[in-house]
Amino acid sequence: MIQKKRLTLSVIKADVGSGGGHTRPSPKMVQAVESVLGKAITDKVIIDGHTCFTGDDLALIMSHTRGEGAEVIHLNVALEAFYRATDVAKYQGQHGAGQDLLKDATSGNLRGCGPGVAEISFDHDPGKHNKVRPSEQVLVFAADKCGPGAYNLPLFLTCADPMYNSGLLQNAAIQQGFTFEIIDMDHTEGDRLIVLQTPEDYYRIATLLRDELRFAIRRISSRAFPELTVAAVSADRLHNISGKYSGKDDPVAVVRAQGNLPATEEWMMPWIIGHEVAGGARGGHVMPLMPVAINTAVTGFYCLPVVSCLAFSVAPDGRFSDHVVDMFSNPAWDYVRFNAQRTAIQGRRQGFFGPRVMLPTSELEYGGIADVLAGLEGRFEVRIPTDAPAEVLAEE
Ligand code: 13P
Ligand code: MG
Ligand code: MG
Repeated sequence: MIQKKRLTLSVIKADVGSGGGHTRPSPKMVQAVESVLGKAITDKVIIDGHTCFTGDDLALIMSHTRGEGAEVIHLNVALEAFYRATDVAKYQGQHGAGQDLLKDATSGNLRGCGPGVAEISFDHDPGKHNKVRPSEQVLVFAADKCGPGAYNLPLFLTCADPMYNSGLLQNAAIQQGFTFEIIDMDHTEGDRLIVLQTPEDYYRIATLLRDELRFAIRRISSRAFPELTVAAVSADRLHNISGKYSGKDDPVAVVRAQGNLPATEEWMMPWIIGHEVAGGARGGHVMPLMPVAINTAVTGFYCLPVVSCLAFSVAPDGRFSDHVVDMFSNPAWDYVRFNAQRTAIQGRRQGFFGPRVMLPTSELEYGGIADVLAGLEGRFEVRIPTDAPAEVLAEE
C-alpha cells in the first residue's frame, strides 16, 4: 500500500546559455540536464523529474520527499544539472554560458544565488477518502524576458476578482479568500515580507502589486484550509544579487488547481489580457506578456516577454511526468498572441520615447544608459540670466 507522504514539488530554473543570442538552450544542453535528472530518479534522490525550457531559461520540475530548500535537491541535482549544461554551452560557444550562476551556494541551497526557485509542499494522499485534496493537479508557469512581478496580476485576479474567476461566487472554500505573502524585492538584507488577506485587504494588496518592479507575490495559501499552499513564485531580482544587470529574472511559479482551489481554467483566464510588464530587450522595456507553448525560443523583435504553462497530475506515488499538458500550445491562445504582438508593435512604434515603452532611468541604472548619462554630466552648465534678481547674481 502507498503511504501518505509529505511531497515537495521543486521548480528550479536558470539561464546558462543559449544559441545565437538570448533565444533557447541548445538540444545538447537540454540532454545534459535530462541525464542528471534521470540519474537522480534512478538513485532515488527524486521521485520524478521533467525538463523544459521557455526562451533561454531551462526549468527543472521535480517531485521528492526531501522538503523545501533541501541541499541534495538544490545543489546535487539542480546546480549539478546547470553546471553540466554550462559546460555544454561553453563547448558549443553558446551566448551567456553560465549567465544565472551568479554566486556560490554557501548556505546549502540556491536561493539568492541566481537560479529561480519555486517550491511547494503538501501531504500527498489522493483518493476519495481525502475530502480536501481528492487528487493533485498542478500548473507550472515559466516566463522569459520579464521579472517575478509579472505574475502579480494574473495570480491576484484568479484568487480575488470574480470578473476573472466566477468560482469565487460558486465555491464556498474559494470564497473564504486567500492569504498573500508579498516580498519587497528591493530589500537585500534578508527577506522583507508582508502578509495580507483577501477579501478585506483587496485594495492594499492591489496597491503593492501594481509596483511589479518592487513587490512580488511569493506565496499564496487558502484561508478555508490554511495548510493548503496554493502558489509559490521565484521572487528574486538578479540585479540585487549581482549589483549589475545580468539578464532579467525570468520567474517560475508552481500553482495547485481544482478541489477547493481555483480550477485550471480559472487560473488560465487572466492570461487573455497579455498584460504589459517590465522586460523585453536588455530588460529595459515595457511589453505585453505573450502565452506560448513550452520549449518555445524567443525569436521575435525586442525579445517580447513570453510565458509557458505546463499542467500535470501527481500520481499517488509522486510521479507526474508520464503525461504533461502544454496549456498555451492550443490554438485557443492564437488570438491572445495576435493581440500581444499588435500591442507590442504599437508600443515599439514610439521607439525609445515616453513612460509606456521604456523603463524609468532608475531601473536602467545597471545598463549602458547610466554610463551615457554619467559621461554627459560634466558637459551640463548652469547659466544665470543677466537680468536675474540681484541676490541671485550676488551668489554667483
Ligand atoms: P535573458 O534575461 O532572458 O537572458 O535576456 C536578456 C536580455 O536582456 C535580452 O535582451
Ligand atoms: Mg539569456
Ligand atoms: Mg531568460
